[in-house]
Amino acid sequence: MNEDALQQAIANPQNLGEMKDADAVGTVGSPDCGDMVRMWIKYKEKDGKKVIDKASFQSFGCQTAIAVASMATQLIKGKTREEALDMSASELSAPLGPLPPMKIHCGQMVEGALKAALDAENAERSGVTAPVKPEV
Ligand code: FES
Ligand code: FES
Repeated sequence: MNEDALQQAIANPQNLGEMKDADAVGTVGSPDCGDMVRMWIKYKEKDGKKVIDKASFQSFGCQTAIAVASMATQLIKGKTREEALDMSASELSAPLGPLPPMKIHCGQMVEGALKAALDAENAERSGVTAPVKPEV
């Protein structure tokens, strides 16, 4: 694990906070039990494709979850929904290096929140369910 990258991301997390104009939001875990990650996504059109314009997050997980979420919100920018769905937890936290076994779940929480947000947008577009609204 890259401790310098971890400390830097914890000290200065990017894209932290609710996004008011998001197209979709996804949450995993529960703030009641301590571990929770919520991720917001906004899309834009670029070269005829819909790509991720920006992403933000909130986390009540540990510091590793905050660092991974910060990395993930930067790495998915400019990707299509499908490209972002294909990214594994280790790809989303690549700058941190491999997470120690105790911290793998933190990366998986971020991956889960991201996929929930990507799926929420899909559900909204297909008209299957009502769009998920942030409930902060
Ligand atoms: Fe349920 Fe943590 S105990 S998500
Ligand atoms: Fe549970 Fe990191 S989010 S220990």
